[in-house]
Amino acid sequence: MPIKNSPEFGGDWTSEKLGMVSAYLKRYTDALKFQPFTLVYVDAFAGAGYWAPKKTEDDAFFGIEGEDPKAFIEGSARVALGVEPSFHEFIFIEKNTKRAAELEQLKNDFPNKAEGIYVEKAEANEFLQHKCREDWIRKNRRAVLFLDPFGMQVEWKTIECIANTKAIDMWLLFPIGAVNRLLKKDGEINEKWAARLSAVLGTEDWRTEFYRKSKQLTLFTGEGEATEKTATFKSIEQFVVRRLKDVFVGVADNPYTLVNSRNSPLYLLCFAVGSKTGKPIALRIAQHILGNS
Ligand SMILES: C[S@@+](CC[C@H](N)C(=O)[O-])C[C@H]1O[C@@H](n2cnc3c(N)ncnc32)[C@H](O)[C@@H]1O
Repeated sequence: MPIKNSPEFGGDWTSEKLGMVSAYLKRYTDALKFQPFTLVYVDAFAGAGYWAPKKTEDDAFFGIEGEDPKAFIEGSARVALGVEPSFHEFIFIEKNTKRAAELEQLKNDFPNKAEGIYVEKAEANEFLQHKCREDWIRKNRRAVLFLDPFGMQVEWKTIECIANTKAIDMWLLFPIGAVNRLLKKDGEINEKWAARLSAVLGTEDWRTEFYRKSKQLTLFTGEGEATEKTATFKSIEQFVVRRLKDVFVGVADNPYTLVNSRNSPLYLLCFAVGSKTGKPIALRIAQHILGNS
């Protein structure tokens, strides 16, 4: 079992997110099994195929040497390979050399699917922006893409390219916790953070959307202007859904909020559909999954 380089990801929310994406994958391949499409699963932050739930000091066995293989849980790549009816092709994108090597091992574990497995050791944005320039529709290819970054790695430009294919359904883990942290209360955001926010949201509008200027009386200078943060988790969520609706034909209105052990939002699991004909059924399935979770 290739577990050496399996990263330690989050706790319950990791299982929650994988459960929802996997439920969609099953419904997707089943719905399209008699259609003349090549079905592709694209995992843009593919990991190693396994992940280990984070150990905490509350765990009874915390600190005990040695790994318990049962503590390693299937990651998204393995989950997708296990889906039946099967996808025809699997594209696993992973920047980390060791994890990409682990992904190659999946060809041994799934020999009857090995010919359709492509491991790309690459930066996800670069790879996807290049790949999405292909004419997916003409080639009769339809895909589900999972964008599962740790943080604010996904650029809006990449999301636009994905939407433009009109052939890809996208599950996006949007880092709402990190975005909220970067949107500092006093609006004093350094250039590097501001550039990252603009790259992730694809606009500078966050400056006016999430802040307001208010008049303030100061002791020495009299009347002045203060910047005040107005953003809430809800308003950030609504902004993200609106942005996705600008480029995709359909977007689930009910992204699922994944929270940490202190109930603080970490990520939004968002869904967007690429094809006009697939929109009604894809949205119905995804919204049902998101709503029921
Ligand atoms: C949250 S983990 C993915 C977990 C995986 N989907 C799973 O369920 O097992 C994010 C992965 O993305 C990889 N990564 C980080 N930045 C990347 C980038 N810019 N391009 C491609 N992979 C990246 C990391 O090495 C890590 O393995």
